[in-house]
Amino acid sequence: MMRWAVIICAVALLASCRHAADELLEPDRPFTMQLPAGFPAMPTSDDNPLTEASVAMGKELFFDERLSRTGMVSCASCHFPERAFSDTLPLSMGVDGLPGMRNAPPLVNLAWHSGYFRDGGVPTLEQQAIAPIHDPLEMDFSITRAAADLRNLEPYASLSRRAYGKPMEAYELTRALAAYQRTLVSGWSRYDRYTSGDASALSASEQHGLELFRSDALNCTACHSGFDLNDHGYHNVGQYLSYSDPGRERITLVPSDHGKFKTPTLRNIALTAPYMHDGSMATLEEVIDFFASGGQPHVNRDPEMQSFALSPQDKADLIAFLLALTDERPIDQVP
Ligand code: HEC
Ligand code: HEC
Repeated sequence: MMRWAVIICAVALLASCRHAADELLEPDRPFTMQLPAGFPAMPTSDDNPLTEASVAMGKELFFDERLSRTGMVSCASCHFPERAFSDTLPLSMGVDGLPGMRNAPPLVNLAWHSGYFRDGGVPTLEQQAIAPIHDPLEMDFSITRAAADLRNLEPYASLSRRAYGKPMEAYELTRALAAYQRTLVSGWSRYDRYTSGDASALSASEQHGLELFRSDALNCTACHSGFDLNDHGYHNVGQYLSYSDPGRERITLVPSDHGKFKTPTLRNIALTAPYMHDGSMATLEEVIDFFASGGQPHVNRDPEMQSFALSPQDKADLIAFLLALTDERPIDQVP
């Protein structure tokens, strides 16, 4: 009798403990995103709303080296926050120190992209997160194993329950990473202040650089247009006569897409060197000289590519303008 009473008490105690733990969890609230003036509404994902817990969980995961086979590589090992989440190496190195295929792009304003990777081969950020974790040249691990290793550990145990109402599995892991990355918004540069009416935000040289950038002669805005200086399209700019990386053709298998790559944003370009899909250009001078040449006559070269001449002063002004595209506040809004 006594023994039963103890057991019943113990069970009751456990149940009340669990109940108490549930009550201790803060209720999940929508994450309040700040968007720069003039930005279109952020496309949202119905099955993955941005909440305080989902973005916090994604941020923990983004910096967690336990998502890699060696426990030494996190997403941030190739996407440095202080570099607008890009890499400083032409080709990033993964778990075994071997270089991958392409240069790691900055991770900003991704919510507005319709395809991820430089060839646009992955349609959602949720699906994208699987690729680096499984890629043998990147993290060489498995999302199901990573989720199993971490699900009972804090802060994942509480955050996953708050955000998704259940312990973390691969599904929640990829959703949280996607949610965090949607919050990485860039649009607070001196250029933005200038275009919203503060004439003193750009120097005379930078203003002249902006005029050149927008001019028909240079034609930059044929592709680097809109709020993200990016048409979200794919173009062959004639970087090579013969490309070792097929680019967009890898996805579509259409020969006219050979050598086409997604237009990169020019935001934070001061921080994201080296440039181009293969990181082959180290400086903005090199990039400008390349565009001034009009590119190589590749059969798929975009008709909008045209050669032009710049005086040394014009070139300095154009670069000064590009350097004014750096955010004046952190890109990462998640506390
Ligand atoms: C070993 C280096 C490395 C690691 C680790 C890494 N990435 Fe990347 N990331 C890259 C490279 C290189 C690319 C460009 C690949 C391509 O275009 O084919 C890329 C591209 C991306 C893109 C596409 C951006 C765009 O503009 O289309 C996203 C999003 C991204 N990474 C997120 C992540 C996340 C999330 C993690 C961690 C789970 C991660 N990366 C880990 C190197 C890395
Ligand atoms: C036909 C479309 C097109 C035109 C016109 C164009 N660009 Fe680009 N630009 C691109 C594409 C596509 C890339 C990426 C190529 C790659 O990844 O190999 C790029 C890359 C760049 C880069 C490197 C960005 C990075 O993160 O690697 C800079 C800087 C740049 N362009 C500036 C300019 C300037 C300045 C002009 C005008 C003089 C210009 N572009 C004209 C499409 C264009």
